[in-house]
Amino acid sequence: MIRFVVILCPLVLISCSNESVDATGPYFPKVKTIIQNNCITCHSANGTGEPKGLPVRLETDDEILSLAEAIKKATNDPVSPRNKRMPYGGELNAGDKEIILRWFESGGTAAN
Ligand code: HEC
Repeated sequence: MIRFVVILCPLVLISCSNESVDATGPYFPKVKTIIQNNCITCHSANGTGEPKGLPVRLETDDEILSLAEAIKKATNDPVSPRNKRMPYGGELNAGDKEIILRWFESGGTAAN
């Protein structure tokens, strides 16, 4: 019985945290807004962030689409020396992370 409860509790927590996210597709327009608000200050040619003008650009649809997996990793996957957490020096809120994750997992294209 105790084992059953131990297994069930995390599941309930996970489903609750997912339910609180208003994340229905299509996700790409929402992903673009998240990137607009959190990333392009550094990842654009004329940004005001620090450091700015990075080689990784996230300004156009094509740039975002070609970096879909890197964006998912940088915002959602465990941090490691080879996977820096983005935005640099910070973290997206849980809802924004979830939207990026769902976009990537449903295909990571402009139609998802
Ligand atoms: C404050 C500036 C800043 C902001 C804001 C920022 N980044 Fe970055 N980003 C960096 C820097 C600096 C690097 C290079 C990190 C390194 O290689 O040490 C980087 C690297 C990256 C990379 C390449 C990582 C790789 O796999 O090589 C990706 C992808 C990325 N950022 C995505 C994002 C996304 C998505 C956001 C918004 C959620 C974001 N960044 C916001 C500064 C920023």
